[in-house]
Amino acid sequence: MTTISLSARELAAQLDRTRMPVHIAIIMDGNGRWAKARGLSVHQGHQAGREALKRTLKACVQLGIKYLTVYAFSTENWRRPSSEVRFLMTLLERTIDEELDELKRNGVRVRVIGRLEEKLPQTLIEKVRRVIEETKHNKKLTFTVALNYGGRAEIIDAVRAVAREAAAGRLDPREITEENFHNFLYTNGTPDPDLVIRTGGEMRLSNFLLWQLAYAEFVSTPIYWPDFDKAELIKAILEYQRRERRFGGRNEMCA
Ligand code: IPE
Ligand code: IPE
Ligand code: MG
Repeated sequence: MTTISLSARELAAQLDRTRMPVHIAIIMDGNGRWAKARGLSVHQGHQAGREALKRTLKACVQLGIKYLTVYAFSTENWRRPSSEVRFLMTLLERTIDEELDELKRNGVRVRVIGRLEEKLPQTLIEKVRRVIEETKHNKKLTFTVALNYGGRAEIIDAVRAVAREAAAGRLDPREITEENFHNFLYTNGTPDPDLVIRTGGEMRLSNFLLWQLAYAEFVSTPIYWPDFDKAELIKAILEYQRRERRFGGRNEMCA
């Protein structure tokens, strides 16, 4: 059997524009394996991953996606060799420097979620603050970067804030609901993702957006992150559009 690979344009023609996901989240995985398969260093894998991110962000802007959230560095990624961690931090800093103008031109608002005050290099924190500040009025797409992010850490941070409010007498525990608890999460003000894509073929969340992904459609692709592009993104959206979201209810046909 021959497989015909369709271009991004041909794939885009198949999209149902009335059922586009509002928020896409991506677990960008497979940089290491991509590099290994080519006899390259892990650093080169991450470098190539950065290009894939640029392509994907651009594709989201073109497709009119309102929110894109990417997992860039987890609270568990500190377990990696210190040279790799250092390289990733420097790569992030360089990327902010090089991409800031382009982000502004494209109307992208940048948000960063994670334990920003902990462990990250001061120079990176300052650049992160700058990009957030300088893009805060942009409206076309909200691009959230999960950095030193862990889903459990996020929930713990929210619980601590809720407990502080309650202890100070400003919040009645009986008034805590799923809706207002969301205001204490890093992602407050952002709708939950509709679609979560994981590259690199694994079928796990690896501590990503544990609260927010409760009803997201999960699409896993074997493609390594550095090979991801607009065509792959559209394929994932098409897969999402083939799914039936029930949110625990019953559809008409089975009623
Ligand atoms: C994902 O690629 C990038 C980060 C976690 C920063 P990996 O580096 O995890 O790639 P694999 O999983 O080893 O192939
Ligand atoms: C998830 O990938 C984290 C990021 C993409 C930043 P990992 O490579 O760290 O996840 P595991 O180790 O396979 O669960
Ligand atoms: Mg990995």
